[in-house]
Amino acid sequence: MPKIRIAVLASGRGSNLQSIIEESQAGRLDAEIVLVASNKADAGALERAGEAGIATCAIDHRQFKNREDFDREMVAALREARVDLVILAGFMRLLSNVFIEAFPHRIMNIHPSLLPAFPGLDVQRKALEYGARFSGCTVHFVDGGLDTGPIIIQAVVPIHEDDNEESLSARILEQEHRIYPRAIQLFAEDRLRIEGRRVRILNPDRPEDRALINPPLS
Ligand code: GAR
Repeated sequence: MPKIRIAVLASGRGSNLQSIIEESQAGRLDAEIVLVASNKADAGALERAGEAGIATCAIDHRQFKNREDFDREMVAALREARVDLVILAGFMRLLSNVFIEAFPHRIMNIHPSLLPAFPGLDVQRKALEYGARFSGCTVHFVDGGLDTGPIIIQAVVPIHEDDNEESLSARILEQEHRIYPRAIQLFAEDRLRIEGRRVRILNPDRPEDRALINPPLS
């Protein structure tokens, strides 16, 4: 099977990018990262891409008078790289319709909460402040809303009594690194079908019917 061509867009340190690079290098991903792009020239993600010999591109959003013009420039770079799937991995920019319509059903995002709970920013802190007993992470297709697109895969983690933002973020991040490569592989295997709000997965493994309870019943 030919590999799909993916681009990863990241604004920050790029640990999710790193996990995708490693899965790809280990031969566990039918996807080739053909471009890593950022809106920040000093993003750690660009450095990681450079070290892995992947082409990079930085487009400073501050140089554009509006979101659409920035997106047009980014879309041009992605088209030039003949990208099949766009992976947002800590890309801290909202996409306009210009971007979304250029890659219909071909943009994924990872978000550090169990959507639809806690969309937006600083969500690990918000889950703690709310008093939630579980949080997690979500990979979803991107639509026009804020973290609202059809959900592909989620991981759940418990919130402990003594958690702070840092410890909870680390527990969630560990799972992000596991589920994002999996979502990409499901796409590469052409096993994802968007049906309204739901993503149907062809030939899925059935999850265990085991409830998670926190605090546990003793
Ligand atoms: C990740 O936790 C990701 O879920 C989050 O940014 C972090 C990026 O980390 N994304 C969002 O909050 C998107 N709204 P990374 O640069 O180490 O991959």
